Amino acid sequence: MNRIFSGVQPTGNLHLGNYLGAIRNWVRLQSDYECLFCVVDQHAITVWQDPATLRHAIREVTAGLLAAGLDPKKNVLFNQSTVPAHAQLAWVCNCVARMGWLNRMTQFKEKAGKNRENASVGLFAYPNLMAADILIYKATHVPVGEDQKQHLELTRDIAQKFNNDYGVDFFPLTEPLILGEATRVMSLRDGSKKMSKSDESDFSRINMTDTADTIAQKLKKAKTDPEPLPETVEGLDGRPEAANLVGIYAALADLTRAEVLARVGGQPFSAFKNELTDLAVSVLQPINTEMARLMADPGAIDAVLRDGAERANAIAQPILADIYDIVGLLRP
Ligand code: TYM
Repeated sequence: MNRIFSGVQPTGNLHLGNYLGAIRNWVRLQSDYECLFCVVDQHAITVWQDPATLRHAIREVTAGLLAAGLDPKKNVLFNQSTVPAHAQLAWVCNCVARMGWLNRMTQFKEKAGKNRENASVGLFAYPNLMAADILIYKATHVPVGEDQKQHLELTRDIAQKFNNDYGVDFFPLTEPLILGEATRVMSLRDGSKKMSKSDESDFSRINMTDTADTIAQKLKKAKTDPEPLPETVEGLDGRPEAANLVGIYAALADLTRAEVLARVGGQPFSAFKNELTDLAVSVLQPINTEMARLMADPGAIDAVLRDGAERANAIAQPILADIYDIVGLLRP
């Protein structure tokens, strides 16, 4: 049986990378699979968060998922901390995973920076909690952007070691689903950096809450090179900013990059940016408007999360009980 799980952190604004790399694919998968989508609030606190801001962000990200088209009736939509089995299984994952495996995680190195001694233990163990998020539902597929690939490999390693250590065939080896033309959307200011919620410059990203004017301004200022757009995909080699904008266009228009270049190759960036602005606004504006409508009624968002928590707990609890039995934790 196929079961899909994925998650998003409620830290700062959802941006175009989250949308094109993950959320839009979730919307497309929801009709064909059993899906659980989670606002991973416990991951967020691996770095200090202002409590009131975090509470607001959990609701806002939930509103973003609903506005983008996730149907809370078809899917299980919830926030992580309402399903204690995630953290309970994470402890088991802590005991299965090896220090050496976690030491290799590039995202930890990036986030901890130079002062690793000062990073939280939670930030170091983050990938184990992520593995638990997935394994507590025995999820078979995880739709994510490219940046999560290494964490998913670790999830497979943990699943495999658990199965071997206890001589069981219990956890599936989860497959990543990295879909579409924008699996790694880059910063608008620097084509070598990922578009990210934590970038200091708001001009580096397009937020799902940005107005049409802001989107236009940000794309106008987006870094490019002086050449016109190439006619072929090979012509994007060595031109990271051009490749990024063409990839974004392709994903938004549901075309391949080759199809986009067949239409716009030879254009100067100024003209292309105008077209891209119109396209981005036409996709994001309805989501933005719906998000604002949903945020006017936080009680209704909480009701969606409560219902999701109940359904997620119903799946997770028996699986946790099986895990405890396998490991030998007595449940008298
Ligand atoms: P997070 O919150 O950073 O991002 C949520 C999703 O958006 C994708 N993404 C991108 N895709 C393309 N281009 C980008 N610039 C870009 N930035 C982000 C991410 O790949 C992700 O799919 N660790 C995860 C959250 C998580 C999770 C999980 C995911 C926790 N538990 C279990 C899957 C399964 C994270 O920090 O995503």
